[in-house]
Amino acid sequence: HPSLLLIAAIAYGLGSIPFGLILTAATGGGDIRQIGSGNIGATNVLRTGRKGLAAATLLLDALKGALAVFLALRLGGDQPSLAMAVAAVAVVVGHCFPVWLGFRGGKGVATGLGTIWVLSWPVGVACCVVWLAVARLSRISSAGALSAFLVAPILMVVTKGQGINAPIPVATALIALLIWVRHYSNIVRLLSGNEPRVNAKTKSS
Ligand code: G3P
Repeated sequence: HPSLLLIAAIAYGLGSIPFGLILTAATGGGDIRQIGSGNIGATNVLRTGRKGLAAATLLLDALKGALAVFLALRLGGDQPSLAMAVAAVAVVVGHCFPVWLGFRGGKGVATGLGTIWVLSWPVGVACCVVWLAVARLSRISSAGALSAFLVAPILMVVTKGQGINAPIPVATALIALLIWVRHYSNIVRLLSGNEPRVNAKTKSS
């Protein structure tokens, strides 16, 4: 299906824009890959102490995920669910494996959440509640992310039929699997009790 390929290519391209890297470098913060965990996501931007920049990274990485799925809905013709599912997976793959960075990108959390919001906003709300609650209680960002993407595919399956067709839970499960795999080093640190907590004292800028 040529339009599915086009949708996947557009979504991959959007996903591969590394906002955390661009914003940090553009504001004189250097290469984010040399800081903290080395990840290009909002959590690691927060480790530079710049809350505003971290929030912008979170928002833009989520928006590119949402935009890719929204565009697929508009371009998807008579197979909107399949088109949205393809775009959702492709945009997260683009974020995790961007061609511009030698395929070494992020972990997919913000972008994944952005896709979920458009695939099913009630599941999006629920995932954000789980993500924020676990991250806040544990003060560990990765614990929140892993929890949110454990419940995301389950909620998509449970709510299937209410406007949610088969490709969407499948895409959500693939995204969740990819996010868990990308968090391998975080999981190792969590299990050994060495995963760093979010520093409450970071200054805002
Ligand atoms: O969004 C990624 C987050 O879950 C973990 O990031 O930098 O602690 O590996 P980081």
